[in-house]
Amino acid sequence: MTVKLRIGALASGGGSNVQSIIDHIEAGKLAAELVLLLTDNPDAGVLKRAARHGIPFAIIEPENYENRDEHDRAMIEALKAEHVELVVLAGYMRIISPEFVRAFPGRIMNIHPALLPAFPGIHVQAKAAAYGVRFSGCTVHFVDEGMDTGPIILQAVVPVLPEDDGDSLGARILRQEHRIYPEAIRLFAEGRLQIEGRHVRILGHTVDADRYMINPPLEEEAPLWPEEGKD
Ligand code: GRF
Repeated sequence: MTVKLRIGALASGGGSNVQSIIDHIEAGKLAAELVLLLTDNPDAGVLKRAARHGIPFAIIEPENYENRDEHDRAMIEALKAEHVELVVLAGYMRIISPEFVRAFPGRIMNIHPALLPAFPGIHVQAKAAAYGVRFSGCTVHFVDEGMDTGPIILQAVVPVLPEDDGDSLGARILRQEHRIYPEAIRLFAEGRLQIEGRHVRILGHTVDADRYMINPPLEEEAPLWPEEGKD
């Protein structure tokens, strides 16, 4: 029997990334178990998803605690009680405390809907569209004590079109989020991620260094050599 990685998820919203993780687990593509979902928001859509799939969940509302540290302590306790080995932040709309980060060293991941370190923070899909970048995407990274600053695990790139707004770009990015988050978790579960300072080494991976994307594509590649007899 394969040992399953015990995952705890923190989410505040609709939970499509949590859904994607559940789907990968249920399809047998990820040797993991989502043992606890925590939310700060009693109205979060993600709760319906958890209920539908029999995932244990708890609503831990910040209003019931004196400050963020106390709130985070309650979450740490709940996660530790379930022997969680990896914490995944999936649309969790609060910044976790340094104590939380230290409670799970090298064992907290986040997904961010931009190509970090560009566009950290919130509403970044709209910010990228408004800025006029030609590419954006998403980033899975380990969480450190900064905001969106931890070592990067995987990134996916998508083109930005002139007519894009935050919604259309966000939808394009989200489709890739649903692919790279389970992949990063799988690599972690297989023990293939090594944090070395700012870098995450992925064991057993090679990349074709000659691949590229240009947006908009070149309309005409300049010939490398002039045709014979033409000049
Ligand atoms: C995603 O765009 C994620 O990158 C960001 O919050 C959003 C959560 O979406 N951190 P969902 O709740 O997983 O659908």
